[in-house]
Amino acid sequence: QQQQPYQPSPQELAVLAEVVIEQIALATPSAEELERKTKLRERLRKLCTNVSPTAELEAFGSLVSGFATVGSDLDLVLVDKGGSTNRPFFEVPLLLEQELKDNGLEAQLLAKTRVPILKIKQPATEEYPKEVAADIGFANPLAIRNTDMLSMYSKCDPRVIDMVRFIKRWAKRRKINNPYKGTLSSYGYVLMVLHYLINIVEPPVLPNLQLYPIPAETPKDEITTEEGHNVWYYKDVAEIQRRVAEGTMTTNTMDLPLLLLGFFEFYAYRFGWVKDIISIRTKGGLISKVDKGWTVVAVRVGKCEAEYKDRYLFAIEDPFETNHNVSRTCNIYGVRKIRDEFKRANRIMRMREGVGALRYKLFEEA
Ligand code: GTP
Ligand code: MG
Repeated sequence: QQQQPYQPSPQELAVLAEVVIEQIALATPSAEELERKTKLRERLRKLCTNVSPTAELEAFGSLVSGFATVGSDLDLVLVDKGGSTNRPFFEVPLLLEQELKDNGLEAQLLAKTRVPILKIKQPATEEYPKEVAADIGFANPLAIRNTDMLSMYSKCDPRVIDMVRFIKRWAKRRKINNPYKGTLSSYGYVLMVLHYLINIVEPPVLPNLQLYPIPAETPKDEITTEEGHNVWYYKDVAEIQRRVAEGTMTTNTMDLPLLLLGFFEFYAYRFGWVKDIISIRTKGGLISKVDKGWTVVAVRVGKCEAEYKDRYLFAIEDPFETNHNVSRTCNIYGVRKIRDEFKRANRIMRMREGVGALRYKLFEEA
């Protein structure tokens, strides 16, 4: 028996399906946009070599995981592969900021974040009238791994990427996708979608890749990092693809409109925003804030000695760095806004509107 959180009529489902297909298409980046980003990445790679010859610029985030949407930023991390003969690595962010500015890019070093981040913008040109944004981080060893796990989840079912694209577009239009302004990052929304698909919808669309048994011959660094983070997840792509092709990955046959109805309904009315932590590594996907001690604001000192705050108003545990709250960026207004938006979307999707009204209301720019 498949879970039916709401019993929409075939006509309503047809209307929803039309809007879903259309909005996913609008959220999907064009080949031209992707090429433009690949070129910027190459250019940045060269400029980084000028500043630090032994550093390597690696990509992570949505352009690698497959969750990219129109206008996604390019997430990069500069990894120092050099020895002691190299320039002290902490000088690199400042020098790189200057080098990028000297080469016609907008660059700004943010030091009040958990780790230093260089925000870059390639200005729009006549030939390509949209600016391209990139972030360079300087220490984020787990980001490449969690990006790879997200990409593994995206391969487990074709509905995953579509659902993420729909939600990201909705969150952007409704202005609840800005970690610098008190709301949630895209990464946070992706984890919310995964939690729903792994633990909430019945039957589940996705397995929990972190709970697969660890094969005996697995190298140790695929199980735990030096810092003691548990980073194991199932990554046999060939086997995943085989099971997807064979149709044995899931018994859930709900299409996107139904999944989205369930998703909005869950976060509007069933998720315990005040007491629960979303924890996709955990069986069942939830931990209580009290049990984890995620109840009071903690002020911490980041890598650049700047203070940053850990808030727990909304809590999403990072799947590997389990002392890290991905939704720490949400302030009280942001959480309220996000919850209200889930209720709003849930209401609109049940209003039995026509295609035009549904599209207009659900994606109206806030
Ligand atoms: P868009 O850039 O909006 O397309 O989304 P994205 O999937 O690239 O996500 P985002 O830019 O928010 O984050 C990029 C990557 O940073 C994620 O895929 C994670 O690998 C990594 N990451 C690790 N911890 C955090 C965190 O707390 N917040 C964010 N935003 N990213 C994190
Ligand atoms: Mg990104």
